[in-house]
Amino acid sequence: MCGIVGYIGMRNACPILLEGLHKLEYRGYDSAGVALITNTGNLRIYKAKGKVADLESVAADKDCSGNIGIAHTRWATHGVPSEANSHPHVSQSGDITLVHNGIIENYATLKEQLIEKGYTFKSETDTEVLVQLIQYTKDSVQACNLAMAVRLALKKVIGAYAIVVIDRQEPEKLVCARKSSPLAIGVTEENKELFIASDASPIAAYTKQIIYLNDDEIAVCERDKDIQVFNLDNKRISPEVKEVDIDLNMLSKDNFDHFMLKEIFDQPNVLRDCMRGRIINAPYSRPWSPQQKGKNTDSLSVILSAVTLHRRELLRARRIIILSCGTSWHAGLIGKQLIEHFCKLPVEVAYASEFRYSDSVIEPDDVVMAISQSGETADTMAAMEMAKKRNALVFGIVNAVGSGISRISDTGVYIHVGPEIGVASTKAFTGQVTVLVMLALALGMAKGTVSQEEYNTVLHELVMIPDKIQKVLEQNDKIKDIAKKYIHSKNFLYLGRGYNYPVALEGALKLKEISYIHAEGYPAAEMKHGPIALIDSEMPVVFLATHHQLYQKIVSNMQEVISRNGKILAIVTEGDEQVKAMVDETIEVPPTIACLAPLLSVIPLQLLSYHVAVAKGLNVDQPRNLAKSVTVE
Ligand code: F6R
Repeated sequence: MCGIVGYIGMRNACPILLEGLHKLEYRGYDSAGVALITNTGNLRIYKAKGKVADLESVAADKDCSGNIGIAHTRWATHGVPSEANSHPHVSQSGDITLVHNGIIENYATLKEQLIEKGYTFKSETDTEVLVQLIQYTKDSVQACNLAMAVRLALKKVIGAYAIVVIDRQEPEKLVCARKSSPLAIGVTEENKELFIASDASPIAAYTKQIIYLNDDEIAVCERDKDIQVFNLDNKRISPEVKEVDIDLNMLSKDNFDHFMLKEIFDQPNVLRDCMRGRIINAPYSRPWSPQQKGKNTDSLSVILSAVTLHRRELLRARRIIILSCGTSWHAGLIGKQLIEHFCKLPVEVAYASEFRYSDSVIEPDDVVMAISQSGETADTMAAMEMAKKRNALVFGIVNAVGSGISRISDTGVYIHVGPEIGVASTKAFTGQVTVLVMLALALGMAKGTVSQEEYNTVLHELVMIPDKIQKVLEQNDKIKDIAKKYIHSKNFLYLGRGYNYPVALEGALKLKEISYIHAEGYPAAEMKHGPIALIDSEMPVVFLATHHQLYQKIVSNMQEVISRNGKILAIVTEGDEQVKAMVDETIEVPPTIACLAPLLSVIPLQLLSYHVAVAKGLNVDQPRNLAKSVTVE
């Protein structure tokens, strides 16, 4: 939530900062702003309510000179989206300005204290309190420079922050700090230029050498100098420089209209990336060669280094607790079924936001798995910290390489589906499910709880999933036509059973997120316990009715809807004539085994929500009120 960017170097800072904001716009897009120390030493701040493009228009005819600056794209927490509340915020003296991602929880107390000292405030934000506190500290402590003022001010702050601060009085440096909100610093040869951002995506085009600050660390970034990092107690720290490998193509839409559509269509390829090197003897090569289809896959095996390295703890585990939020929580529900089936190990799946404040018992023999696309979700991170304190092995299933969750995990598996930019999660979900299948098989094999025959069957099917997804994607035009029929619907029900029940939840979430149509997902049999009251001729019901366990029971549930004049759209296995004859619309997916059904049945639901939202003229990649990384609780 909220994207921040900073630059110091020899180039004109403004275009780099604005370009960086575009890359971070998925994190928040209700207002944006930029601050520059110009060539004449003035501090210039430009802000706009709305998108980064609106900020560009505001700045177009202004003095945008200078090679040091900071910028921000906002997702409002304190104060409505407005020019006054947008960042950068500036101190009363007009010298110090900062951008912030996070929440200062004790801002009200700090604000009262500053008001008593004569400070006045122009915005309703917690961030303005922080910049005034830094200014007050600098002015009131003897021989205090910006870095010291930031450090002393942060010692008084309770909350989460990633900040970048500049000071007109010290125009050759950027000071940045983090606690619980992400911050990356891109370094270059001899530090001729330094780039700061909420994640590596705005930096990757300039340098692959990244320092990720840890909690309670402050960095002073000056051109041509080593970065100085120290903690809140002023102890010097040697920062670790990591080499990140970001595929820059993944950061562009290519020829697609939206990132979401591109990411839906990316799924065959990125799932191959997710399995590559992990499923031994998989018939993958790049580019994917059709001649390899049908290659003998009998000798497939799955090797996950996290399972090999932590075999002892994993075999000793008496329970797995999966913690996550949103779409990642839906993947967790599938993970539970997979692990319980293949590993005969009890699994609990909890919303991280509930778990972190609950009295849940965590035993040292528990393994806690955190699933997250962004690797930054504040609740998931906090729940993991809690598990770590209780000595459980913490296992991360994360997409964003180098993110907070991946760094605090004891071990884990990256999803490796590339950056996901569309706010509605698509390829990360199928990547998470793919990792969970591989994990359940690898652990099941280590425990001896899965038969060789079943192991072979599942792996054989799993490596064919990308091709099968491709076949579903070929029905895009048909799904687009179906979507148009539903754009005036006010409510949707999604029903599935077994492995397809979490897919029903995910389908409903996708629709509400981007089309603003109310939708609920339920286990199909639960319909009779309440939701059936909603069904009438206006109510579309999406059934996940692929040919698996409980298929006939799903068919009976459909009859119940038909008897009440409900409209049915069913996701069925290719060649299913029985359901086709009963319902209004069907979308076919290729046959597969039950535990892999979600990887196919979710695809039409992703496309359906996408096309409904587009047909309604909505902004699919930046739906209202949402942000991609939920870094505040
Ligand atoms: C839904 C969506 C959210 C995220 C949730 C968790 O499309 O994107 O529900 O799944 O905010 O985010 P991560 O996986 O980054 O922890």
